[in-house]
Amino acid sequence: PSVAVIVVAAGSGTRLGLGQPKAFVSLAGRPILSRSLDAIFALDDETQVVVVVPADRVEQAGDIVAQVAGAAVGYATVVVGGESRQASVEAGLAALAESVDIVLVHDAARALTPTAQFASVIDEVRSAGRGAVPGLPVSDTIKRTDGFGLALATVDRSELSAVQTPQGFPRQQLQRAYEFAADEFTDDAALVAAAGFEVAIIHGDPLAFKITTAWDLRRAEQELAPAPE
Ligand code: CTP
Ligand code: MG
Repeated sequence: PSVAVIVVAAGSGTRLGLGQPKAFVSLAGRPILSRSLDAIFALDDETQVVVVVPADRVEQAGDIVAQVAGAAVGYATVVVGGESRQASVEAGLAALAESVDIVLVHDAARALTPTAQFASVIDEVRSAGRGAVPGLPVSDTIKRTDGFGLALATVDRSELSAVQTPQGFPRQQLQRAYEFAADEFTDDAALVAAAGFEVAIIHGDPLAFKITTAWDLRRAEQELAPAPE
């Protein structure tokens, strides 16, 4: 395949607070990881799926992948993640097939991300030859604070974008950026930008929100509930 999606699912889910890794928590009857793989295996592009999980979850992840993949084209690899998200992405990069030239990195915790968002990111990377990340306008008024509880200036909202995943990159750019990364970054776009490569922001989708807290999990359950008559 020429496209790979690295699904990072090796986090511990501290803020969700259910005492198990977040990707393995049930969301409307199936693990969050399973839900997030649905959209990826529905892609038209033949895709290598690399799932990055905690060391003691490799077997379980393999079962989940097999169940969702069914007869889908492409293939999947399960690898063990690291201490940080960045280390987990790095573990995923090491498992890429030789033929891959576009790499998407996706949070398993964004379980309801539609297939169309993956397809848009792939299209943008392919046509523009640079990184592409989905983002949404920020609707709240954002204040810079003095660090002690006092409001300083209001940040100009029109310059802000709340970014999501999948974040896609030409493979060479992402791998070079990871080779040279000296710091920890909060997302792959920041790491790639720090290496000097351009990253475009495309339209995101509210459904790609990240399940972080118990409130987010309830919201995801509601999205999956059958619509009332
Ligand atoms: N992730 C990972 N490896 C890590 C840390 C995070 O693969 N060492 C993944 C998570 O599994 C998740 C995504 O990165 O899909 C986004 O991270 P986050 O929402 O912070 O998940 P957790 O780290 O699991 O949650 P928390 O920070 O609340 O512990
Ligand atoms: Mg985390």
